[in-house]
Amino acid sequence: MCAKIENDTLNSELYKNLLEGNKQFVEDTLKSDPHYFENLAKGQAPPVFWIGCADSRVPANQITHTAPGQIFVHRNIANMVIHSDMNMLSVLDYAVNVLKVKQVIVTGHYGCGGVMAAISNEQFGLIDNWLRHIKDVYRLHANELDQIKDIDERCDRLVEYNVIENVYNLCKTSIVQNAWHNGQPLGVHGWVYSLKTGIITDLKVSAYDDANMDNVFKFK
Ligand code: CO
Repeated sequence: MCAKIENDTLNSELYKNLLEGNKQFVEDTLKSDPHYFENLAKGQAPPVFWIGCADSRVPANQITHTAPGQIFVHRNIANMVIHSDMNMLSVLDYAVNVLKVKQVIVTGHYGCGGVMAAISNEQFGLIDNWLRHIKDVYRLHANELDQIKDIDERCDRLVEYNVIENVYNLCKTSIVQNAWHNGQPLGVHGWVYSLKTGIITDLKVSAYDDANMDNVFKFK
């Protein structure tokens, strides 16, 4: 039974097409630059660290017209920066302290399924524990959000606030604060991508030091 399922999976068109697509990618790439892989394999020094949504429609390189090697990427549901998330913290630590990226960008997107789920009163199972953090963002901005009658519009505003709060969460980490204290140039930014237009909007919450941070979050 298992063997049959495995066989069906391996033979599915979609699965085969992925590997065929890879062959095509290698062929096309080598045609335009015979040393492409050789050069890329030497190492990476990306100037940007990207925290984005896992949504399949928001690939960091494609929507910023950048090449492999230019953006270090971490993605999860609804582009969250959660203080107890060892995965995110490990990637952030590596990006800031080893790769010495210059910019960290949290990129959300309108129509985000994670944010839409969080704004509802439905239960979705395990993921509710993750989405709870978005409900906390809602609570912080409930006065404004409750006034927006159109649910899609309200959701999109929450998408923006979710990016902004996650930018603040980044700034509150000891990793970012230590970089600033040590004089390491590091910008932290918040963007939103529109699935409908392909356009990225800068939410203009960029921070380059802890000057505007609430005192309680600062480290000496
Ligand atoms: Co999303």
